[in-house]
Amino acid sequence: MVVLRKVVQVGATGNLGAAVLESLISTPSLEVTVLSREGSSSRPVRPEEVNVITADYGSVDSLSAAFQGADVVVVTVGASGLASQARMIEAAIRARVRRFIPSEFGADTLHEKARGLPVYRAKVETLNLLKAKAAEGLIEWTAVFGGPFLDWGLSRGLFGFEPAAADATFFDGGSTQVSTSRLTDIGQAIVGILQNPSKTANIPIYIQSTCTSQKQLLELAERTLGKKYKVTNVSTEQMEKAALEKMKQGDMSGMRAFLVRAIFAPDYGCNFTARLANDLVGVKELSPTDLAALVDETLRQTGQS
Ligand SMILES: NC(=O)c1ccc[n+]([C@@H]2O[C@H](COP(=O)([O-])OP(=O)(O)OC[C@H]3O[C@@H](n4cnc5c(N)ncnc54)[C@H](OP(=O)(O)O)[C@@H]3O)[C@@H](O)[C@H]2O)c1
Repeated sequence: MVVLRKVVQVGATGNLGAAVLESLISTPSLEVTVLSREGSSSRPVRPEEVNVITADYGSVDSLSAAFQGADVVVVTVGASGLASQARMIEAAIRARVRRFIPSEFGADTLHEKARGLPVYRAKVETLNLLKAKAAEGLIEWTAVFGGPFLDWGLSRGLFGFEPAAADATFFDGGSTQVSTSRLTDIGQAIVGILQNPSKTANIPIYIQSTCTSQKQLLELAERTLGKKYKVTNVSTEQMEKAALEKMKQGDMSGMRAFLVRAIFAPDYGCNFTARLANDLVGVKELSPTDLAALVDETLRQTGQS
């Protein structure tokens, strides 16, 4: 029987990484090691409960030594670390790691339109490499897609509005139904994958805490905050064009526009309802009451901070 028990999590101190680490160390059957960059000053949650090691991410030898004995490598590094995943994959193969879970977790980079956006280049290259190595029988992969982070996104204006602001922005009309996931549900999905190794090998796992729209979320926010936003409509196609123009001039400041396009353009595949693996990996969807409570709690906390 396949067992994925010994886990090395790479980049466990970030926005998502901390929540994933919580889920991993709350699962008694798992043995968790956290890998950080040499010289990093960040510390994981509950450091006394995990073994923390460091490696030189520029060296396959160093990474391979860090992965020795692991059954699975879970990568939750942020944007600036995505390109180092090619070396991590080589190192994991060398260390005979069975499964590699790359840093995905957002929009569907397997979707024919989303995958062409420049912001996803490193993620697409990583999945291509994993698929090629899996076809040679050298390693298994599982990619988790959860859409925009729900709680984290609400607190950071990802859905087009912030509690303190008077204005909101709707992308492509604000009605696109989008799969979105809480950070803890992504953590649960990873635990669920490790507990169902055979059924999750070499496939994408789509999850959602809920499927909703900007309009629905703004309505809930207005109820919590007791105010009406002034809404402006923006076309994600125009945003993409403007960002591409900037890129041609060497200006990379428009990258967020590509993320918005992948999430909110109706034909970019960020509605996962027809292909959900929630049941397989143990992710429960929020009821409408739970969603309203989450919006309420998140916006109140954001407003206070
Ligand atoms: N769906 C969404 O709404 C959404 C939103 C944000 C992010 N994401 C995705 O979620 C994943 C994690 O993003 P995040 O925002 O949680 O990441 P993050 O907080 O920016 O960084 C996570 C960790 O990556 C490590 N790291 C930082 N710079 C690095 C570098 N140059 N090389 C290697 N490692 C580095 C750090 O760990 P150490 O200091 O311990 O080395 C850091 O704590 C990414 O794939 C990102 O695209 C999705």
